[in-house]
Amino acid sequence: MAGSDANGFGAMKRQMSDVKMDGDVGLVSTDDASAAVAAAHRCAAAAGTSGMPTPQWVLTDLVGAFGTEVAETGYEISAAKCCSPEEKATAREQGSSLLYGEMLPDGVSKALHEKLLGGALAKGDNGSVLELGMGSGKVALQVFLQCPSVKRVLGVELVESRFQLGAVALRRFVASNPKQFRLKDDTEGQLVKAEEIATGRLLEFRCSDFFTVGLDLTPRCDVIFFAVNIPCRLFPDLGTRLAQSKDGCRLFSYHALSTIWWSDAECPFHQVEDNKPESDTYSTSWSPQGFRFYVYVCDRKRPASIRNDMRNETYSEWQLIWDDKSQGYYFHNQESEVSQWEVPISAGCWQAVWAEEHQAFYFCHTPSGFTQWEIPKCMADLGYGQPPAG
Ligand SMILES: C[S@@+](CC[C@H](N)C(=O)[O-])C[C@H]1O[C@@H](n2cnc3c(N)ncnc32)[C@H](O)[C@@H]1O
Repeated sequence: MAGSDANGFGAMKRQMSDVKMDGDVGLVSTDDASAAVAAAHRCAAAAGTSGMPTPQWVLTDLVGAFGTEVAETGYEISAAKCCSPEEKATAREQGSSLLYGEMLPDGVSKALHEKLLGGALAKGDNGSVLELGMGSGKVALQVFLQCPSVKRVLGVELVESRFQLGAVALRRFVASNPKQFRLKDDTEGQLVKAEEIATGRLLEFRCSDFFTVGLDLTPRCDVIFFAVNIPCRLFPDLGTRLAQSKDGCRLFSYHALSTIWWSDAECPFHQVEDNKPESDTYSTSWSPQGFRFYVYVCDRKRPASIRNDMRNETYSEWQLIWDDKSQGYYFHNQESEVSQWEVPISAGCWQAVWAEEHQAFYFCHTPSGFTQWEIPKCMADLGYGQPPAG
């Protein structure tokens, strides 16, 4: 497995007994650290085929950085609870959700297998890994520790309180391993960069929108982690940016590219063989038994296998939920987590527009402005074209 060569990296020498922590850097006691590593191993056992064992020394280092918050499960984990009232208000205004989850260490170890992402890191020692939406930064730190062939890892996170969890952990990690690592940059609220002294390898956490910092680097990345649920209005731009990826790059994605490639750029990605079975799942905080993610390789020599679908008519962020009490359906927006009784006027990339002179709705494809009378499936699913209930 790529990156599991413990002998290749000095960190393996930092054993459990080194995890003693003082007040300044806020580290955890050896007992707590042992308990956290044991908890991570229990998660591993629960993961079954959705995970692969993470080397003990990697878990120990993760616990040294993040304390007992490694391998947290459920919905109330630290990076889900840390958001300030201002961050919540901003998310509400933008119609985005702060619902949060993390990959568990053994899910990451599985993703790093050479038949999945590791295939892009197997050659040479100059690998570059990008994590879009790093949350607290656990995945980015794990990849940095576990994959000595990776020269640079960059994690980008939009929500500052989550970025801060990562920044604190990275400073703590460096402070407790001063012979092996040093801080190269630390700009409050913006970035923290650590360097492995012997090799010059870099791990950087940035607080930014990945459409500003991150997606601009796709032409140089070997692996892109994209375990993020983004609103569908961003799909067209995302596809256009991912289309810049270099051949050989591997992508780990929350969204299946076949449902979100709403760009007119040809999709250069192909699903890797081992990821094709629906049973290929990865252990996460919200689903330790395994959650379905998608793994792709960028290969322009092969004919495109993922169709671009600029005016996708099927995707919808809305879910119809039956309410027993009122004996009626309400609408739940899975992007913003908001529910409503009124029939939504838009779904996916389509909007319903009332034409007074025709006393009928027509439908507008929002990104392009294209209009049609035919009802797209995503709008028909909301009830357009059907006689009003009751
Ligand atoms: C589901 S969490 C995944 C965390 C981590 N990647 C993991 O797998 O453990 C997704 C993260 O992406 C962040 N995010 C969403 N949109 C973003 C954007 N446009 N730029 C940067 N981060 C973003 C969210 O704030 C959230 O912390």
